[in-house]
Amino acid sequence: MTETVLFERKDNLAILTLNRPDQLNSIDEDMRNRLQSLLRELSNDADVRVILLKGAGERAFCAGADIKGFGKVDSTAGYRNQRLDGHWIHTFETVRQPIVAAIHGYCLGGGLEIAMACDIRIASEDAQLALPEVTHGIIPGAGGTQRLARLIGMGPALYMTLSAERIPAAEAHRIGLVSKVVPRAELETAAEQLATKIAGFPPLATRYAKEAVKRGFEMPYGDGMALEIGLSTLLTTTEDRLEAAAAFREKRKPVFKGR
Ligand code: CAA
Repeated sequence: MTETVLFERKDNLAILTLNRPDQLNSIDEDMRNRLQSLLRELSNDADVRVILLKGAGERAFCAGADIKGFGKVDSTAGYRNQRLDGHWIHTFETVRQPIVAAIHGYCLGGGLEIAMACDIRIASEDAQLALPEVTHGIIPGAGGTQRLARLIGMGPALYMTLSAERIPAAEAHRIGLVSKVVPRAELETAAEQLATKIAGFPPLATRYAKEAVKRGFEMPYGDGMALEIGLSTLLTTTEDRLEAAAAFREKRKPVFKGR
């Protein structure tokens, strides 16, 4: 059977590819389980410094949940499972390393919810992003209503969620939903170059930077500042900080160890 999520390692970079291209990489149970277990594993792997997520095929990053499976799942049992642990897409946010999403083609529903749970989104010019859940009689239920408003503000989030309209990459860039737009042919290279660049930085610094911004955003200002002081002070005790300063003085390339 073909793997629904492909996994590749390139030095300190882990590359995950959603791989149901003939179904526009829509998320079935197998893809969900495999993604979740890979993310948990990678989060605990000190050698992995950045995760890159992309979609296989020419047409989509991910067209959302597998609609063909709708109606088969017992939603009460689903709620019981999610009540304490949250939705499975929340796993992306518990991963310690930065996650870069490379978005091309359709990025819809659960696909956009996954992309929003990643830390950096780069899109190609052909990307189309939408939350069409209301057209199916549901709402974005994987954190989409909460993440979208936090990313782009309440007004645009309500527009996207209620209108279900697909917005093109340029508009997604204008409203801050993606950080960069590149030609389709350059997406993989651009995303991999960015991920590799971040993987070359001291890994504890990139992990703590992610934590400070993401966790701090959910806290009152004073608590966020306290979190920042704690993480920032911890980083002053690392070997990598000394190595960065030494490499700067000695005009050489630093070698970071994640300590
Ligand atoms: N689930 C299951 N299969 C899907 C799918 C999805 N979300 N999206 C596309 N596919 C399948 C199609 O059924 C088709 O498969 P078959 O060849 O076996 O029929 C194949 O992918 C190609 O798609 P189309 O033939 O439909 O391609 P198109 O160019 O005509 O249309 C599209 C493309 C506009 C994206 C259309 O496929 C579409 O509207 N898909 C649904 C998108 C959507 O509404 N996603 C949100 C789902 S809800 C959600 O995601 C919330 C959640 O997490 C619970």
